Amino acid sequence: STHEPLFGKTLLYIANIGQHEDFDAARKKAEKLGAKKVFIEDLRSEFVQEFIWPALQANAVYEDRYLLGTSIARPCIARRQVQIARSEGAQYVSHGATGKGNDQIRFELTCYALYPHVQVIAPWRIPEFYSRFRGRKDLMEYAETHGIPVPVTPRAPWSMDANLMHISYESGILENPKNHAPSDLYQMTTNPEDSPNEPDVLEIDFAKGERHFPQICSIVSELFLLWFLSGKHGVGRIDIVENRFIGMKSRGIYETPGGTILLHAHLDIETFTMDREVRKIKQGLGIKLSELIYNGFWYSPECEFVRHCIDKSQENVEGRVQLSVFKGQVYILGRESPKSLYNEELVSMDVQGDYDPSDASGFIRINAVRLREHNRLQGAAQKK
Ligand code: ARG
Ligand code: SIN
Repeated sequence: STHEPLFGKTLLYIANIGQHEDFDAARKKAEKLGAKKVFIEDLRSEFVQEFIWPALQANAVYEDRYLLGTSIARPCIARRQVQIARSEGAQYVSHGATGKGNDQIRFELTCYALYPHVQVIAPWRIPEFYSRFRGRKDLMEYAETHGIPVPVTPRAPWSMDANLMHISYESGILENPKNHAPSDLYQMTTNPEDSPNEPDVLEIDFAKGERHFPQICSIVSELFLLWFLSGKHGVGRIDIVENRFIGMKSRGIYETPGGTILLHAHLDIETFTMDREVRKIKQGLGIKLSELIYNGFWYSPECEFVRHCIDKSQENVEGRVQLSVFKGQVYILGRESPKSLYNEELVSMDVQGDYDPSDASGFIRINAVRLREHNRLQGAAQKK
């Protein structure tokens, strides 16, 4: 309300990264509360191109399961926030992440990396704030007495974070890791028990490791098709306990429909077209990248280095993968590529190819030198 000290001085910024949100209502609310200017920025295509694709090219999966849909959005959101702050001459930026989570770290590391002298206001870490607002009830009461419009129907009893790539659910009734998620929690995918009894078959083209789109502007709509198909077949659900950077474990449920299909397809075409030893190194870099993304170090010298290497590794990753989606699963059906390293003649059991089988005898015997030695020394130790 008008007696608040920041009335008329605050800029509101919301990133559109594909979440379902009433942006008009948000704008009106911000204006009513006295925002000096409102920035609602459509970041969908840069989110896909500069963040989601590089992560998928790396097959970046945190702790073997999480496709990083929330984590990868943070540097994208915060980058534009500091661009606006700089161009509007704002010295302070703020966010609503809690003081216990990963998001505060990701937002703020990005802010400091790109706008080193910025000052961050994180209300959930200010004692006067969190001692006054102990929960949703306190916030609701405050909103009511100060004429801040809030949804009448209480939100779901857990916290959600949604974007183009995924939706995540945590806290509330999910905090007990033993509790099963209620079946009406899932918003992006059908329960595979209720999904169609017929698979959908699709083909995905990759050029330089990226899902190939004829035109940049169609990215978002093409993605929606993938999302729709995987959602329909219940693809991409996980329920995990993960390690937050801050040092605690948390339980999270995720739906990453389209991303899960793309990951499977990309893994397939990559193995088909990439040298074995390059692939091993690249796989390690992918694990490293997943940690950097999770921990909020997208804008860091080490992340730039890793992303550069991964980008290089994708030069020959191109081709087409046929797959089907069915009952929560992605099934690879076949693949083809002009850059394939697969030599049908070389591997065939029916033709000799440019290969002499008798060479294998020596190869195996040389590899056995170490194993025989191990056996001999073990035997000697037992006799003692
Ligand atoms: N734990 C996940 C991450 O750190 C998701 C956090 C998203 N926040 C939420 N309120 N659901 O990437
Ligand atoms: C939050 O703390 O605001 C969400 C959860 C997280 O960032 O880990």
